[in-house]
Amino acid sequence: MSFYKDGKKVLSNLDSYYKQSINKEKKVIKQLTISELNEKLSLAAHLKNGDLSDERLDSFIKKYLDNTTRLHHPGYFAHQVGIPHPTGALGSLVDGFTNNAMAIYEMGPAAAAIEFFMVNYLLGKIGWKPMPTDIEKRLTFFHGGGVLTHGGSLANMTALLTARNCLDSSIREEGNPSDLVILAPETSHYSIAKAAGIIGIGENNVIRLETDPHGRVMVSKLNNALQKAVDKGKRIVALVANACSTGTGLYDPIDEIADFCSENGIWFHVDGAHGGSALFSNKHKTYLHGIHRADSMIIDAHKMLRTPTVCAALLVKDAAALDHTFEHKASYLFHEKKQPGFDFIGQVIECTKAGLGLRFYMTLAAIGEKKIERYIDNAYALTQQAFEHINAQPDFEVPCKPESNILCFRFDAGDDVQIMLRDHLIEEGSFYISCTELNARRYLRIVIINPESKLNDIKNLVTSIRQAFATHFSK
Ligand SMILES: Cc1ncc(COP(=O)(O)O)c(C=O)c1O
Repeated sequence: MSFYKDGKKVLSNLDSYYKQSINKEKKVIKQLTISELNEKLSLAAHLKNGDLSDERLDSFIKKYLDNTTRLHHPGYFAHQVGIPHPTGALGSLVDGFTNNAMAIYEMGPAAAAIEFFMVNYLLGKIGWKPMPTDIEKRLTFFHGGGVLTHGGSLANMTALLTARNCLDSSIREEGNPSDLVILAPETSHYSIAKAAGIIGIGENNVIRLETDPHGRVMVSKLNNALQKAVDKGKRIVALVANACSTGTGLYDPIDEIADFCSENGIWFHVDGAHGGSALFSNKHKTYLHGIHRADSMIIDAHKMLRTPTVCAALLVKDAAALDHTFEHKASYLFHEKKQPGFDFIGQVIECTKAGLGLRFYMTLAAIGEKKIERYIDNAYALTQQAFEHINAQPDFEVPCKPESNILCFRFDAGDDVQIMLRDHLIEEGSFYISCTELNARRYLRIVIINPESKLNDIKNLVTSIRQAFATHFSK
């Protein structure tokens, strides 16, 4: 086996794959069954023979790529998973090859230094003080902190753990009392309720904030949720707001919620997994006005920052809060040593942690700040145009004007038909879209995240939906 020769084959296949995908030469999605794929990819035979090199590797990769969901295809509108930049993907390859599990500095100095740099870079975007590179100075003054995690769900959970510890530092050792609650809108991502369950607060102890008909937090009603908690004798771990929400892509009013949290001494967490990247746009960062007044925030780089999956950032205003969240003992890791850098291991749930900063940094450094801003602005602008186009169709309904790059709409038919239409599109393979429920009605949903997607693709999507209905589903 020659790594270089095999690597060239893999890269050459990826290059063709990329061109085929952006030129729409293949379906955006194609789903064989598990057994069909087992057979097609000769999974058992390769494993038995240990022969995945040379021509067999080439053929395996070709078949593998032929059975992927093609995010680079301009008809990819389904989920909030970024279209990875090729240079970022090279970052993932280098990280995989070097395997520098950088949670302790000595296991990956370059990876750790890049993560440190990226955390500080994001802290700067929020308006929080960066961490000092001279770690002797850590916590000698008030500054922000953060860490890159394996996804937004883990970042949200880490934020809530940090908030819980800040509320009551005895809980980590003693366990949860039964008087803890989290305040969050119904429209918050399910990872918030999941985190509440995992960290022992309990999913039923997420008190729902009242929202307007489009699912945005109503500031005038915040007091009701607070009162509900107080009446039950509960302590509030955190209030969570969406920036933006997963279903509709709408932003909660951050600055006004910050007023409420600061008046009532409540930890304010902003879930910016998807829309936090608006901080990179001069035009759209207004949606995050007041973000510096939050206590914690997350941003998924693998959503709107074109970074290969996974890479999320948890950011906190006060580094001390995060430093004190995980103070564990492991004599093989935590001991006196020469320490030229920073150990992120004290900031995260993970022990072995990938060098996530590399793929993130290489993506942004290849694109450049101006172009990432243009990418976000274009995605948001195209979503407005898509809204105007679809809203003007007599047989389509759009429930709300988009604020980001997520758009929900509905063909003039029942809930079950929306699902059948989506299934049909997926089967046909020119478009891949998702669907969601809003106010107990089923909507089709698109995420305009692919820089290759154009208004014409949206117009063709509308035509395809209409044709699919006329041909297959109208009585
Ligand atoms: C608002 C929001 N928060 C959190 C998450 C979870 O992020 P991840 O999928 O990276 O775990 C998502 C995922 O779509 C999201 O939209």
